[in-house]
Amino acid sequence: MTTDKAYLKINNQEVELPVETGTEGEQAIDIKTLRASTGGIVTVDPGYKNTASTRSKITYLNGEAGILRYRGYPIEELADKSTFTEVAYLLIYGELPDKKTFDKFVADIKDKSFVNEEMKNIIDGFPRSAHPMGILSSLTGAMTAFYRDVTDISNKEVLYNTIVRTLGKFPILGAWAMRKRNGWPLTYADSRLSYVGNILKMMFEKPMEPYQVNPVAERALDKLLILHADHEQNCSTSTVRLIGSSHAGLYASISGGVSALWGPLHGGANQAVLEMLEQIRADGGNVKKYIDKAKDKNDPFRLMGFGHRVYKNFDPRARIIKKSADEVLAELGVDDPLLDIAKELEQAALNDEYFQARKLYPNVDFYSGIIYRALGIPVEMFTVMFAIGRLPGWIAQWKEMRENKEPIGRPRQLYVGPAERHYVPMENRK
Ligand code: ACO
Repeated sequence: MTTDKAYLKINNQEVELPVETGTEGEQAIDIKTLRASTGGIVTVDPGYKNTASTRSKITYLNGEAGILRYRGYPIEELADKSTFTEVAYLLIYGELPDKKTFDKFVADIKDKSFVNEEMKNIIDGFPRSAHPMGILSSLTGAMTAFYRDVTDISNKEVLYNTIVRTLGKFPILGAWAMRKRNGWPLTYADSRLSYVGNILKMMFEKPMEPYQVNPVAERALDKLLILHADHEQNCSTSTVRLIGSSHAGLYASISGGVSALWGPLHGGANQAVLEMLEQIRADGGNVKKYIDKAKDKNDPFRLMGFGHRVYKNFDPRARIIKKSADEVLAELGVDDPLLDIAKELEQAALNDEYFQARKLYPNVDFYSGIIYRALGIPVEMFTVMFAIGRLPGWIAQWKEMRENKEPIGRPRQLYVGPAERHYVPMENRK
């Protein structure tokens, strides 16, 4: 809804731009007509720090107040009361499902929880040293070769089938990436288990004995996946939307999202946090030394798991995960010295003027790795777990972008390279 106007004075001209107000009162200047009305003037905003790329009804995030809600529901309530599969439905379809709809959704996902055997040939081609995120991204792209990738979303049934198929198969690919690394046989889900129970089974089941799902581990992982399920227009989600905006299919778009998530400034931070904590422990546990390194502008070291593009307050997910880490480790009887180092590091940073002045707080990744570690998940798999958690968000955002009939994503640029010049034959070059 347009509630106000903004005025821009440029080149002796005044341009009137509409101002839109979102559900929670946040305002945005609509610059859609700027180029046309100014004869080609654009805005420049590297990293999109001031740019809303879309209007979305999925996730509300207030970084100043530390608020996160999926479809209006506070993340704290969902983490406490819901399940990952229910949250997936909520994100993708907008409402909490009634029992009949939900039972069908769960059954349909289970029905699709196998992948074409020929996908195993592709995995065989990877060296065992391959990073599981590289394998996951490739296998997700390879899905397009085995299953019809939906590019026309007008058929609701085809879209629904693609969604449940993606939810059913993606965790298998993630688990297989780990099994490949371990040299273990590739296994499938068991339809008697829950979605999250199956993820644990597919990752840890050994050929010589039946796998028993530990309910503490199952609930802990379920909660972590809920916390990762969506985070509005972050780097990987924007990638998924951008790829999908060319009307590329869902698997192709998600494959790109996995690659975007892999980077250490995004989802790869959970692996980087654990490696950092290990390094601090190996270095004698000198927390102050690493705080000083993080503050030193001549040192590339950053405190991994700290800071966020949007949160300038506590990441609400970090609060939940910190509490959960304490509970899970106690329930599983795990005593991890890295948890003590993490807590010491957090306190030191929160009390330090450098971090206070820049509003750098622990983010979702700071404690998640401690829980993954307690569950026996190898460090290289941490970002895969994040990807499995983020899958419903990617699907929901891709679907919304297509249903909104958004145009192809194609940013402008400000050219600052050489002005026109003419070709010089090689023999005449200095
Ligand atoms: N350690 C030390 N200093 C930091 C850190 C950090 N983790 N994060 C930001 N800063 C400093 C920067 O050096 C900069 O200082 P300056 O103003 O003196 O130059 C200031 O804080 C602002 O930082 P930017 O990099 O401009 O902030 P931006 O919003 O671009 O980056 C990011 C956010 C990438 C998350 C950053 O905080 C970071 O690199 N954190 C560590 C990696 C991490 O944990 N990533 C996970 C993010 S959550 C997620 O994607 C799931």
